[in-house]
Amino acid sequence: MIKKCLFPAAGYGTRFLPATKAMPKEMLTVVNKPLIQYGVEEAMAAGMTGMAIVTGRGKRAIEDHFDISYELEQQIAGTSKEEQMKDIRHIIDSCTFSYTRQVEMKGLGHAILTGETLVGNEPFGVILADDYCVSEEDPVLLQMVKLYEKYQCSIVAIEEVPADQTYKYGVIGGNEEKPGVFRIQQMVEKPDPEDAPSNLAIIGRYILTPDIFDVLRETSPGRNGELQITDALMSQAEHGRVIGYQFKGQRFDCGSVEGFVEATNYCFENYYKNGK
Ligand code: G1P
Repeated sequence: MIKKCLFPAAGYGTRFLPATKAMPKEMLTVVNKPLIQYGVEEAMAAGMTGMAIVTGRGKRAIEDHFDISYELEQQIAGTSKEEQMKDIRHIIDSCTFSYTRQVEMKGLGHAILTGETLVGNEPFGVILADDYCVSEEDPVLLQMVKLYEKYQCSIVAIEEVPADQTYKYGVIGGNEEKPGVFRIQQMVEKPDPEDAPSNLAIIGRYILTPDIFDVLRETSPGRNGELQITDALMSQAEHGRVIGYQFKGQRFDCGSVEGFVEATNYCFENYYKNGK
């Protein structure tokens, strides 16, 4: 059983300035829910109840969101507005939230290593909340948990991207053992198209085994001088211990304005209008 999910949430969200000047990018709302709430709901759907959030300066709104707001709740008690608080109340009642701060921005690998204190010595999920995922089948992280039960090693979610977009992602190369399931042999962080081992890009969903923390401690800074999770995973991949999984569903890059608008339209049409 994987019980914990780590949310690296210390980044600045500069692409959304000025919106993210005083507000965490994870609190940007797709229709009527902040991005990080979608992430937490996906983790819950995958059976996880321990939400471990790596924050930074200026991120207090995240903690307040996953806490009771007595005054507000008293105000709306007995009115139709109460219904709109149902989901978040359910989250608060069923999960525990723990936080630690990443003091310096030294890359995603560094953010994950900062979360070790919250995760401990057990396998865990990782959600990058600005990759918003939807699926008509199981939610993406649940698909990955099911795969973990079989493979018992680290798993990264992957999708095909146009060759000229590889510079934005970690890119994998490997053997397709079953349709959509790759035993990874190569991983490169943000390669130019000519250096990319394939057009299969890692998106923001991971299941990691806890030995990743020791590996991260031994990993040197990589792309952009930052500690990259992709490089640490490559060490596990050398031992055949990383699976790339072409998830079923759709992912919106809500770290970009275009992806964010697409996600908003999708959610409005598919969920909000139908009262979901
Ligand atoms: C990070 C990872 C990258 C991955 C991406 C998915 O990059 O470093 O390997 O493909 O997330 O969203 P970032 O988008 O934080 O630059």
